[in-house]
Amino acid sequence: MTKIFVIHENPQWLPPLAEAFDRIGLPWAELDLSRGVFDLSAAPPEGIFYNRMSASSHTRGHRYAAELTAGVLAWLTRHGRRVVNGPAALDLEISKVRQYAALEQAGLRIPRTVMVQDDNAALIAAARRHFAPGPLILKPNRGGKGLGVRLFASVEALEAHLENAPAEEAPVDGIWLLQDYIRAERPVITRAEFAGGRFVYAVEVDTTSGFELCPADVCATDVQAAGDAFCPVGAAPAVPAAPRFTVLKDGIEAPLRNRLEAFLAASGVDVAGIEFIRDLEGQPLVYDVNTNTNYNPAAEEAAGIAGTARSGPGALAAFLAAELGHRQQQAA
Ligand SMILES: Nc1ncnc2c1ncn2[C@@H]1O[C@H](COP(=O)(O)OP(=O)(O)O)[C@@H](O)[C@H]1O
Ligand SMILES: [Mg+2]
Repeated sequence: MTKIFVIHENPQWLPPLAEAFDRIGLPWAELDLSRGVFDLSAAPPEGIFYNRMSASSHTRGHRYAAELTAGVLAWLTRHGRRVVNGPAALDLEISKVRQYAALEQAGLRIPRTVMVQDDNAALIAAARRHFAPGPLILKPNRGGKGLGVRLFASVEALEAHLENAPAEEAPVDGIWLLQDYIRAERPVITRAEFAGGRFVYAVEVDTTSGFELCPADVCATDVQAAGDAFCPVGAAPAVPAAPRFTVLKDGIEAPLRNRLEAFLAASGVDVAGIEFIRDLEGQPLVYDVNTNTNYNPAAEEAAGIAGTARSGPGALAAFLAAELGHRQQQAA
């Protein structure tokens, strides 16, 4: 019998998925690509491969996991294996610039962004030219977990920061992004979850305690332990509260939902969490596409959808089960 192979590099994110897969009896195995050896002259095992390689893999010591995954996905697709979130999805996962091109092509609005591959002097000059007097956002092109995403009130504040910037925040692909700071009416972002290319639900995330907004429980613990989350509205509390996530009862408006689904279809993405902020006119600006998405268990619990097919892991399990059924029918 064929099964689902979950490609990943962080076992800490697997338990909620394992639980949902096991609940419906979905046969699955993990394929840890934090490192690996592959004989490219052999055929891959039969099955469906669900790619969850993360843009932040380098922050867990897996500097080349994304590169390895790109190779493995090419090998899998050359052998005709179905890859959920295939090569095109990985391509978007590791580059916000490519996300933005695809989003705009699908008619979605993004914050004004300038890409810089150069030294700090060039970065400051670009900030002065395009964003003076400020505020402005600095973020790495290959992102993840909000690491290295910072808000500066002015170009001078950016300049002061860069003088002593922590080396681990340097973008792993060498590319910095300078971006308009989106002013919102309330300090929240919205993250819309999709499985099988279809909208599942949206969560509102309170950003008062910082920019590191990974929905997974383990990441919330990380933020608490680090105690250094950047507060966009003033002094950060000594130990910031974990980000707060609330499932939106009414979802998101149909035109936005349709456009996001069309974007995913056009981009070859099956599973994603897409983040946007509404500006002061209420217009959504999309700034982050997470093809490796995690779900917040507390928010799902509070919304009464935990453990059901309407939860993130539940919807994902149902989608993968349907894919597997589909494949098995084709093979029969
Ligand atoms: N242009 C922006 N304006 C306002 N807030 C932003 C902007 N870009 C990022 N943020 C805040 O920083 C967080 C992390 O940024 P994001 O682009 O999602 O990076 P990552 O890929 O690391 O998650 C966002 O969820 C949001 O709270
Ligand atoms: Mg994000």
